[in-house]
Amino acid sequence: MNDTQTLSQRADALEEQMSQQLDYIVVKSRLYSMAEGDMGPAVNANAIMAKNPKARVLMGDDPRLPTMPEKPTLIDFFKYRFGPAAHLLQSAKHAVNAGLPENMVLACLLHDISTIGFIRGDHGYWGAQLVEPYVDEEVTWAIRAHQVLRFYPDPSVGYEYPQSYIKAFGADYRPDDYVEQDYKRMRDHKWYMSGRMITVHDIYSFDPDAKVELEEFTDVIGRNFRQPEQGLGFDNSPVAHMWRAMIRPAKYL
Ligand SMILES: [Fe+2]
Ligand SMILES: [Fe+2]
Repeated sequence: MNDTQTLSQRADALEEQMSQQLDYIVVKSRLYSMAEGDMGPAVNANAIMAKNPKARVLMGDDPRLPTMPEKPTLIDFFKYRFGPAAHLLQSAKHAVNAGLPENMVLACLLHDISTIGFIRGDHGYWGAQLVEPYVDEEVTWAIRAHQVLRFYPDPSVGYEYPQSYIKAFGADYRPDDYVEQDYKRMRDHKWYMSGRMITVHDIYSFDPDAKVELEEFTDVIGRNFRQPEQGLGFDNSPVAHMWRAMIRPAKYL
Protein backbone atom coordinates (compact mmCIF):
# COMPACT_ATOMS: atom_id res chain seq x y z
CA MET A 1 0.00 0.00 0.00
CA ASN A 2 1.04 3.54 -0.73
CA ASP A 3 2.62 5.38 2.22
CA THR A 4 1.01 8.67 1.28
CA GLN A 5 -2.48 7.27 1.81
CA THR A 6 -4.31 8.50 4.86
CA LEU A 7 -5.41 5.99 7.43
CA SER A 8 -9.00 6.12 6.21
CA GLN A 9 -7.92 5.70 2.57
CA ARG A 10 -6.02 2.62 3.65
CA ALA A 11 -9.07 1.36 5.49
CA ASP A 12 -11.16 1.97 2.37
CA ALA A 13 -8.63 0.14 0.22
CA LEU A 14 -8.81 -2.75 2.65
CA GLU A 15 -12.60 -2.74 2.49
CA GLU A 16 -12.36 -2.71 -1.29
CA GLN A 17 -9.99 -5.67 -1.24
CA MET A 18 -12.36 -7.45 1.14
CA SER A 19 -15.28 -6.81 -1.18
CA GLN A 20 -13.31 -8.44 -4.00
CA GLN A 21 -12.83 -11.52 -1.88
CA LEU A 22 -16.06 -11.66 0.07
CA ASP A 23 -18.54 -10.19 -2.38
CA TYR A 24 -19.77 -7.39 -0.20
CA ILE A 25 -19.08 -3.69 -0.46
CA VAL A 26 -18.92 -1.43 2.57
CA VAL A 27 -19.79 2.20 1.95
CA LYS A 28 -19.50 4.16 5.16
CA SER A 29 -21.95 6.85 6.15
CA ARG A 30 -20.91 10.43 5.49
CA LEU A 31 -20.85 11.12 9.21
CA TYR A 32 -18.19 8.45 9.67
CA SER A 33 -16.07 9.83 6.84
CA MET A 34 -16.34 13.36 8.21
CA ALA A 35 -15.31 12.09 11.63
CA GLU A 36 -12.22 10.64 9.95
CA GLY A 37 -11.53 14.07 8.46
CA ASP A 38 -12.07 12.54 5.06
CA MET A 39 -14.04 14.86 2.79
CA GLY A 40 -13.17 12.92 -0.36
CA PRO A 41 -15.52 10.81 -2.43
CA ALA A 42 -17.11 7.74 -0.88
CA VAL A 43 -16.08 4.23 -1.89
CA ASN A 44 -17.31 3.85 -5.44
CA ALA A 45 -19.59 0.85 -5.26
CA ASN A 46 -20.23 0.85 -9.00
CA ALA A 47 -16.51 0.67 -9.80
CA ILE A 48 -16.12 -2.28 -7.44
CA MET A 49 -19.14 -4.04 -8.92
CA ALA A 50 -17.66 -3.52 -12.38
CA LYS A 51 -14.56 -5.43 -11.29
CA ASN A 52 -16.42 -8.00 -9.23
CA PRO A 53 -19.93 -8.47 -10.60
CA LYS A 54 -20.85 -10.74 -7.70
CA ALA A 55 -20.16 -8.03 -5.11
CA ARG A 56 -23.15 -6.36 -3.47
CA VAL A 57 -23.57 -3.36 -1.22
CA LEU A 58 -24.73 -4.11 2.30
CA MET A 59 -28.51 -4.02 2.52
CA GLY A 60 -28.98 -6.80 5.07
CA ASP A 61 -27.02 -7.92 8.09
CA ASP A 62 -23.41 -6.85 8.30
CA PRO A 63 -21.24 -9.99 8.21
CA ARG A 64 -18.52 -8.23 10.20
CA LEU A 65 -20.76 -7.74 13.24
CA PRO A 66 -22.36 -10.18 15.68
CA THR A 67 -25.83 -11.27 14.60
CA MET A 68 -28.64 -9.54 16.47
CA PRO A 69 -31.77 -11.39 17.56
CA GLU A 70 -34.83 -10.67 15.44
CA LYS A 71 -36.50 -8.75 18.27
CA PRO A 72 -33.57 -7.13 20.01
CA THR A 73 -33.85 -5.99 23.60
CA LEU A 74 -31.90 -3.27 25.36
CA ILE A 75 -29.70 -5.97 26.87
CA ASP A 76 -28.99 -7.37 23.37
CA PHE A 77 -27.68 -3.96 22.36
CA PHE A 78 -25.38 -3.95 25.39
CA LYS A 79 -24.16 -7.43 24.45
CA TYR A 80 -23.86 -7.22 20.67
CA ARG A 81 -23.47 -3.58 19.70
CA PHE A 82 -22.41 -1.21 22.45
CA GLY A 83 -18.77 -0.61 23.31
CA PRO A 84 -17.39 -1.30 26.79
CA ALA A 85 -20.03 -0.42 29.37
CA ALA A 86 -17.95 -0.51 32.57
CA HIS A 87 -18.44 3.22 33.14
CA LEU A 88 -22.22 2.93 32.90
CA LEU A 89 -22.34 -0.15 35.11
CA GLN A 90 -20.19 1.53 37.75
CA SER A 91 -22.29 4.69 37.63
CA ALA A 92 -25.46 2.66 38.11
CA LYS A 93 -23.89 0.71 40.97
CA HIS A 94 -22.79 3.96 42.57
CA ALA A 95 -26.39 5.18 42.31
CA VAL A 96 -27.70 1.96 43.91
CA ASN A 97 -25.24 2.32 46.79
CA ALA A 98 -26.39 5.91 47.32
CA GLY A 99 -30.00 4.72 47.60
CA LEU A 100 -31.32 6.46 44.48
CA PRO A 101 -34.77 5.41 43.24
CA GLU A 102 -34.84 2.75 40.55
CA ASN A 103 -35.74 5.05 37.69
CA MET A 104 -32.65 7.12 38.46
CA VAL A 105 -30.49 4.01 38.67
CA LEU A 106 -31.71 3.29 35.14
CA ALA A 107 -30.89 6.88 34.14
CA CYS A 108 -27.33 6.38 35.41
CA LEU A 109 -27.11 3.03 33.60
CA LEU A 110 -28.17 4.62 30.32
CA HIS A 111 -26.76 8.14 30.56
CA ASP A 112 -23.94 7.56 28.04
CA ILE A 113 -25.53 4.98 25.73
CA SER A 114 -25.13 7.35 22.82
CA THR A 115 -21.38 7.50 23.46
CA ILE A 116 -21.01 3.73 23.55
CA GLY A 117 -23.44 2.95 20.72
CA PHE A 118 -24.23 5.88 18.51
CA ILE A 119 -22.70 9.35 18.42
CA ARG A 120 -20.35 11.14 20.85
CA GLY A 121 -20.99 14.84 20.22
CA ASP A 122 -24.11 16.05 22.06
CA HIS A 123 -24.42 12.49 23.40
CA GLY A 124 -26.80 13.48 26.20
CA TYR A 125 -29.31 14.84 23.70
CA TRP A 126 -28.99 11.81 21.42
CA GLY A 127 -29.12 9.36 24.33
CA ALA A 128 -32.25 10.98 25.75
CA GLN A 129 -33.93 10.75 22.36
CA LEU A 130 -32.99 7.09 21.93
CA VAL A 131 -34.72 6.05 25.15
CA GLU A 132 -37.56 8.56 25.22
CA PRO A 133 -40.42 6.22 24.19
CA TYR A 134 -39.36 3.55 26.69
CA VAL A 135 -38.66 5.32 29.99
CA ASP A 136 -40.21 7.85 32.41
CA GLU A 137 -40.15 11.40 31.19
CA GLU A 138 -37.94 12.23 34.15
CA VAL A 139 -35.30 9.72 33.01
CA THR A 140 -35.21 11.22 29.52
CA TRP A 141 -35.00 14.71 30.97
CA ALA A 142 -32.18 13.76 33.32
CA ILE A 143 -30.12 12.05 30.60
CA ARG A 144 -30.44 15.14 28.41
CA ALA A 145 -29.60 17.41 31.33
CA HIS A 146 -26.42 15.57 32.33
CA GLN A 147 -24.91 16.66 29.02
CA VAL A 148 -25.20 20.26 30.20
CA LEU A 149 -24.97 20.09 33.98
CA ARG A 150 -21.64 18.26 33.94
CA PHE A 151 -20.00 21.55 32.94
CA TYR A 152 -21.37 23.48 35.93
CA PRO A 153 -20.48 22.92 39.58
CA ASP A 154 -23.11 22.57 42.29
CA PRO A 155 -21.57 22.88 45.76
CA SER A 156 -24.90 21.94 47.39
CA VAL A 157 -24.26 18.32 46.38
CA GLY A 158 -20.47 18.50 46.28
CA TYR A 159 -20.24 18.44 42.49
CA GLU A 160 -17.19 20.23 41.13
CA TYR A 161 -16.13 20.88 37.58
CA PRO A 162 -14.28 17.66 36.68
CA GLN A 163 -10.49 17.87 36.85
CA SER A 164 -10.43 15.49 33.89
CA TYR A 165 -12.15 18.17 31.78
CA ILE A 166 -9.40 20.69 32.55
CA LYS A 167 -6.92 18.15 31.23
CA ALA A 168 -9.06 17.08 28.28
CA PHE A 169 -10.45 20.42 27.10
CA GLY A 170 -7.89 22.88 28.50
CA ALA A 171 -8.30 25.30 31.40
CA ASP A 172 -9.71 28.02 29.14
CA TYR A 173 -12.51 25.86 27.68
CA ARG A 174 -16.01 27.34 27.91
CA PRO A 175 -19.14 25.38 26.94
CA ASP A 176 -20.90 26.38 23.73
CA ASP A 177 -23.57 29.02 23.96
CA TYR A 178 -26.44 26.55 23.45
CA VAL A 179 -25.15 24.59 26.46
CA GLU A 180 -25.05 27.75 28.57
CA GLN A 181 -28.60 28.60 27.46
CA ASP A 182 -29.82 25.10 28.31
CA TYR A 183 -28.11 25.32 31.70
CA LYS A 184 -30.04 28.47 32.54
CA ARG A 185 -33.29 26.74 31.60
CA MET A 186 -32.45 23.50 33.38
CA ARG A 187 -31.32 24.84 36.74
CA ASP A 188 -34.83 26.09 37.51
CA HIS A 189 -36.58 22.95 36.29
CA LYS A 190 -38.50 20.69 38.69
CA TRP A 191 -36.24 17.77 37.71
CA TYR A 192 -32.98 19.70 38.01
CA MET A 193 -31.81 17.46 40.85
CA SER A 194 -32.47 14.30 38.81
CA GLY A 195 -30.16 15.51 36.06
CA ARG A 196 -27.70 16.66 38.70
CA MET A 197 -27.70 13.20 40.31
CA ILE A 198 -26.42 11.70 37.07
CA THR A 199 -23.44 14.05 37.18
CA VAL A 200 -22.83 13.14 40.82
CA HIS A 201 -22.75 9.42 39.99
CA ASP A 202 -21.00 9.94 36.64
CA ILE A 203 -17.79 8.80 38.24
CA TYR A 204 -14.58 9.47 36.41
CA SER A 205 -12.01 7.63 38.47
CA PHE A 206 -13.02 4.02 38.28
CA ASP A 207 -12.11 1.47 40.81
CA PRO A 208 -10.35 -1.05 38.59
CA ASP A 209 -11.33 -3.81 41.02
CA ALA A 210 -15.02 -3.00 41.04
CA LYS A 211 -16.44 -5.47 38.58
CA VAL A 212 -20.10 -4.80 37.92
CA GLU A 213 -22.14 -7.10 35.70
CA LEU A 214 -25.04 -6.05 33.51
CA GLU A 215 -27.05 -8.94 35.00
CA GLU A 216 -27.21 -7.02 38.28
CA PHE A 217 -29.57 -4.61 36.52
CA THR A 218 -31.80 -7.05 34.66
CA ASP A 219 -34.68 -6.41 37.08
CA VAL A 220 -34.21 -2.64 37.12
CA ILE A 221 -34.33 -2.65 33.32
CA GLY A 222 -37.31 -4.99 33.34
CA ARG A 223 -39.30 -2.73 35.66
CA ASN A 224 -38.24 0.63 34.24
CA PHE A 225 -37.54 0.19 30.52
CA ARG A 226 -40.62 -0.58 28.45
CA GLN A 227 -39.09 -3.08 26.07
CA PRO A 228 -41.21 -3.13 22.89
CA GLU A 229 -42.36 -6.65 22.07
CA GLN A 230 -41.48 -6.24 18.37
CA GLY A 231 -37.89 -5.44 19.42
CA LEU A 232 -36.01 -2.14 19.47
CA GLY A 233 -35.88 -0.87 15.91
CA PHE A 234 -39.09 -2.58 14.81
CA ASP A 235 -41.79 -1.04 16.99
CA ASN A 236 -42.69 1.84 14.66
CA SER A 237 -41.70 4.33 17.36
CA PRO A 238 -40.33 7.76 16.38
CA VAL A 239 -36.82 6.53 17.24
CA ALA A 240 -36.98 3.01 15.76
CA HIS A 241 -34.73 4.01 12.84
CA MET A 242 -32.05 5.13 15.30
CA TRP A 243 -31.91 1.67 16.84
CA ARG A 244 -31.89 0.11 13.36
CA ALA A 245 -28.89 2.32 12.51
CA MET A 246 -27.01 0.58 15.32
CA ILE A 247 -28.15 -2.86 14.18
CA ARG A 248 -26.91 -2.23 10.61
CA PRO A 249 -24.58 0.76 10.83
CA ALA A 250 -23.25 0.41 7.27
CA LYS A 251 -26.56 -0.25 5.52
CA TYR A 252 -26.22 1.27 2.06
CA LEU A 253 -29.67 2.87 1.94
FE1 LIG B 1 -22.07 11.69 29.61
FE1 LIG C 1 -20.68 9.37 31.96
